[in-house]
Amino acid sequence: MNFPQTRLRRLRQNKILRELVSEKKVDIKDLIYPIFVCEGNNVKKEIKSMPDQYTMSIDQAIIKCEEAFALGIKSFLIFPVSDIKDETGICAVSKNNIQQKAIKKLKNEFNEILIIADLCNCAYTNHGHCGTLVDGDVDNDLTVKNLCNQAISLVESGADIIAPSDMMDGRIKEIRKKLDSQGYVNIPILSYSAKYSSAFYGPFREASESAPKKGDRSTYQLNYCNYREAIREGKQDVYEGADMIMVKPALSYLDIITKFRQNFNLPIVAFNVSGEYSMVKAMSKLNWGDEINLIMEIITSIKRAGADIIITYHAIEVAKQIINENQ
Ligand code: PBG
Ligand code: ZN
Repeated sequence: MNFPQTRLRRLRQNKILRELVSEKKVDIKDLIYPIFVCEGNNVKKEIKSMPDQYTMSIDQAIIKCEEAFALGIKSFLIFPVSDIKDETGICAVSKNNIQQKAIKKLKNEFNEILIIADLCNCAYTNHGHCGTLVDGDVDNDLTVKNLCNQAISLVESGADIIAPSDMMDGRIKEIRKKLDSQGYVNIPILSYSAKYSSAFYGPFREASESAPKKGDRSTYQLNYCNYREAIREGKQDVYEGADMIMVKPALSYLDIITKFRQNFNLPIVAFNVSGEYSMVKAMSKLNWGDEINLIMEIITSIKRAGADIIITYHAIEVAKQIINENQ
């Protein structure tokens, strides 16, 4: 059928009709809110490069989670800002670390909360790399060993899901084996499968004080020119036993999200990272765009590309907007 019989504007005439034929909507239950925890009491320090996001001591993190909870957000990704660091990152396994303590407290405070623990060494190494350095590069197998022990420590502290973000080879297999050997057969692994070496992590590294002092992460994170390699990473992680797989960042990688959706039948998670968040905040600060409209367009595009679940610092704003729209 051609014009004038076919008129696509017919279905766009009014809001009710537009909403009726709308194909994709973000649900509050799809959202995971990332938070940064640090030692201390009553600490709520705004992250300079991430307006409205804070590094919080546990008491303040609880208040933040309450705010999110009231809006229907029940899943949180916990990142540590650690004072304790060493050469190898082996200190990451201690139950006295801020991440472990925060997880324990949050699990005690809320009965229904879902806690996802980011699993990596970079907050714990004094050089900022995601694992143990040997001859100037991160040693894969040594790091995997350390990660396995760190995973157990996090699960024993109450983590519901383990999310390895290090990009070492074979870590999913080894972590699964380790969890199972300790009886944690029901703890899912959310793998950062296609984690690209990205300039969009800048604000996060300021927040978590985990920027590499020397070099970059390109010997372990993916090159942004490559998409076939991302599929190989995804396949490998599925084969090794991942329960969910992630694409990160999200916005410059919508094509990878779609590829994951087409190739894999497990839940696809997208990480709308710090730099993507800060870009919107900067635009809005300069009055160069309408903040909530920018946010909803971005989050919906990630969903439309094929993500089931979205990790975003905008979670609270998105939830408020969804609630407003439904009133
Ligand atoms: C650390 C880690 C990073 C992020 C999550 N876990 C940064 C990195 O690889 O340097 C990025 C999160 C963000 O930018 O929001 N392994
Ligand atoms: Zn790391």
